[in-house]
Amino acid sequence: MVGILRWRRRDGTTLTPRMSTQRVFSGIQPSGDPHLGNLLGAIQNYVRYQHGHDAVYCIVDLHALTTPKDPDELRANTLRMTNLLMAAGLDPERCILFAQSHVPEHAQLGWLMETTVSFGELSRMTQFKDKADRSEFISASLFTYPALQAADILLYDTNFVPVGDDQRQHLELSRDAAQRFNSRFGETFVVPEHVIPEIAARVMDLQRPNDKMSKTAAAENGLIYVLEDLKSIEKKFKRAVTDSDDEVRLDWENKPGVSNLLEILSAVTGTDPHELAGNYTQYGALKVDTAEAVVELVRPIQERFAELNADPAETMRILRTGAEKASAIASVVYDRARDAIGLLGPE
Ligand code: AMP
Ligand code: TRP
Repeated sequence: MVGILRWRRRDGTTLTPRMSTQRVFSGIQPSGDPHLGNLLGAIQNYVRYQHGHDAVYCIVDLHALTTPKDPDELRANTLRMTNLLMAAGLDPERCILFAQSHVPEHAQLGWLMETTVSFGELSRMTQFKDKADRSEFISASLFTYPALQAADILLYDTNFVPVGDDQRQHLELSRDAAQRFNSRFGETFVVPEHVIPEIAARVMDLQRPNDKMSKTAAAENGLIYVLEDLKSIEKKFKRAVTDSDDEVRLDWENKPGVSNLLEILSAVTGTDPHELAGNYTQYGALKVDTAEAVVELVRPIQERFAELNADPAETMRILRTGAEKASAIASVVYDRARDAIGLLGPE
């Protein structure tokens, strides 16, 4: 898999990942199968960061509970997401891969983070507002969700957090929480930076290219699942909304549909999207090539997923091993935070 190894940092400068032992952490919810936005905006970057970094990836099942879930489905989806991540290239020998609820320090530090972030800060989170508007039952945990996310990140002395663009605000809050805690109680946490890819940080819906590709807000033909039937993927790309003139260029303001296709093709092939635009004079060919590139990207992932999914005992074993490794880091950091904040340790 070819990729563009450049990242935009918070201050707009570019970061080229280098060999180092810096810690990378990210989390993904086991709420149904991932879509192309998750794969290009996040998962592919998890895979890249396994190399040359100390990478920790978490299936955030506690976060999934913030909106009502069927218990059997949640269990099944946690295994499926683990398998999907491995099928996409995560190697449990190279990274730590585990389920959030297997490491109780996440919930414990989550509480300390709830005492560290303010009601006002949480009220400004746009993802909460979006999700609350769409939910019948708005749980308290949906509101405090970013405090748990901060705990996830801070528990591993994380330097970098690869995420898609929609997580920018949550990451800012995690930084603010770390800084506030450190200034109140002394240096306890590493202040993390997010890394958002230059390309495909925000893959858009194929039918409504002004909206982010998302499971909840999708138009039927606008969303591509990583595990979707390959013919269906081709069809959806063929039907992708473009616009009335016929010029292929990267122009998010006036040509969001075409720009989205160019960015998808760019993310899959590792070729600059402006350069790609120069190769096309018609939308039709761009759609066909993008469909083909995506199909070739997901085909091996689907095959590997099917193999992994046939052996749930092995997936459980991998999660258990991952949790042991994660606990060894998280327990030390949690104890540091517990002592700093003034809780009496049991020792
Ligand atoms: P979620 O499915 O919300 O757990 O998201 C998992 C990861 O995928 C996060 O890092 C998101 O920022 C990223 N992500 C979600 N939707 C998109 C999208 N449409 N384009 C790019 N990245 C995305
Ligand atoms: N909030 C993230 C999302 O919706 C998931 C998440 C939970 C996460 N904890 C995290 C992402 C820690 C990065 C780091 O996609």
